[in-house]
Amino acid sequence: MNGITILGAGGYNPSFAMTNEMLTEFIDTSDEWISSRTGIKTRLMSPDKANYQMAAEAAKAALKSAGKTAEEIDFIIVSTCSPDFYYPNMACLVQKQIGATGCPCIDINTACTGFINALDIARNYLATGDYKTILIVSSERLSSHVDYNDRGSCILFGDGAGAVVVEKGEDKPYYSILGAEGDMFEALYCKANYKPNFPKFDGNEVFNELIDTPEKECYLQMDGKAVYKFAVDAMANAVDKVLQKSGLTIDDIDLVVPHQANIRIIQSALKKMKVADEKVFTNLENHGNTSSACIPVGLSELMESGRLKRGMKICLVGFGAGLTYGACIFEY
Ligand code: COA
Repeated sequence: MNGITILGAGGYNPSFAMTNEMLTEFIDTSDEWISSRTGIKTRLMSPDKANYQMAAEAAKAALKSAGKTAEEIDFIIVSTCSPDFYYPNMACLVQKQIGATGCPCIDINTACTGFINALDIARNYLATGDYKTILIVSSERLSSHVDYNDRGSCILFGDGAGAVVVEKGEDKPYYSILGAEGDMFEALYCKANYKPNFPKFDGNEVFNELIDTPEKECYLQMDGKAVYKFAVDAMANAVDKVLQKSGLTIDDIDLVVPHQANIRIIQSALKKMKVADEKVFTNLENHGNTSSACIPVGLSELMESGRLKRGMKICLVGFGAGLTYGACIFEY
């Protein structure tokens, strides 16, 4: 089987740290409420860099870590649900920022599951042999979507970017499970901000309905309880299925890197998966939920700290708006 080899990883952490205490200055909440319900103490926010600029910083760090130049990259995949432009896509903007030329550039959006989907796409392109070295960047500037008057959601999210450079891993295992439940989309969404510029004619009421989006819905809308319930089951089931597919057991896995949404979601899902706490990476306390950036930022921190060792079996698992979910197992 041909899996992947992660040659290097890098992250970009925004400069501004919004603490729970700071949130109490403009919403009715407390450090105790947020910490005990979510495990988050601080979320990083980017007042000075657009999403594509954060993405480019993470990409440069990943190239450096991999010992590769931008010219050696022959495919760029960006996962984001908070792009700065409708078009061009973010991957083209990253390509320009890092000085790569000519390679294909695609964006994908499966919200917080984005990195797992992007890795899967990369793995398949690498397996065909059409591309040799792929840059994956997951970058999110959720501060541009969040309504800071909504205490039920604004406490969770932060900004950040993570990137990896991957090549084919000859004879390395790789297994994945991906899925989506589109009928649950209303549990977590943010509508595109159409301007009311469509000419009105008799008979085009459908379009009028589209452009008359209440301003509120152009900010992130979330049914926290529905997402919570979905997340615990989706993560546990995805890990269970990917283990079955691989023929491995949870004891064979050296490290689980889950989406960093909420420590209680992670703990409840882990209990169902029967995985030991010490095998699970978390950093949400200091980052908040940075959507698809969480996992590659985690991988870059794990690499930097020396905790990742070649030969380790890693399990990534996540969920997000869609509602989407996914898990994969690969050898580092
Ligand atoms: N501070 C203080 N009180 C708050 C609050 C805050 N920041 N946010 C909500 N509350 C209040 C509510 O108004 C409610 O009060 P009421 O009982 O008087 O009506 C009470 O706390 C309970 O609210 P509820 O929404 O039931 O809280 P919860 O225990 O479900 O926790 C979340 C809310 C958002 C932390 C939790 O549902 C969650 O994490 N869901 C998953 C969200 C997620 O991960 N999204 C990203 C997916 S990628």
